[in-house]
Amino acid sequence: MLFCSIFAQAITTNYSSTKEQYMQTLNAIGLNKEKTTNLAIQLNELLANYSIFYMNVRGLHWNIKGDKFFELHVKFEELYDNLFLKIDELAERILTLGHTPTHAYSDYLQQSSIEEARNISDGNKALNNILASFQTIIIKQRAILELAGDANDEGTNALMSDYIREQEKLVWMYSAFLG
Ligand SMILES: [Fe+2]
Repeated sequence: MLFCSIFAQAITTNYSSTKEQYMQTLNAIGLNKEKTTNLAIQLNELLANYSIFYMNVRGLHWNIKGDKFFELHVKFEELYDNLFLKIDELAERILTLGHTPTHAYSDYLQQSSIEEARNISDGNKALNNILASFQTIIIKQRAILELAGDANDEGTNALMSDYIREQEKLVWMYSAFLG
């Protein structure tokens, strides 16, 4: 009887220390810390791309010239407003995962694959620049979607899915406008 009780206690102690060890691998929302760190690095890189993309589109909105001015000037404002909202959502997702969003343009420039676009006033060049930036961020978001799936991170997964679906449609529309 005594043996049984010691044995049961040993199992319980062993179980609770294993559970404790497991809990230490999780962050505040129950996701694996290591996988989440990797995700946060990728999300910060995405944030850098969005930030450069955002400023580029503001420049396009200001500098656009020609017979499509009124259409494109308004369209670009709509786009940079949309990117601005996503920048905030991404930064807050990074915080939710327990990490710090990058918040300096000097860091964005180092981390972004999208380059600064200067003095573009031609409508077609502006649209092609936007399409290239969409392609860059859509590819990055698909890669993050895979990482999020592997980490069971449904929150990031849902965010990336929404962005991808919305932007794929925008790519079709911008391409259709180009003809
Ligand atoms: Fe404006």
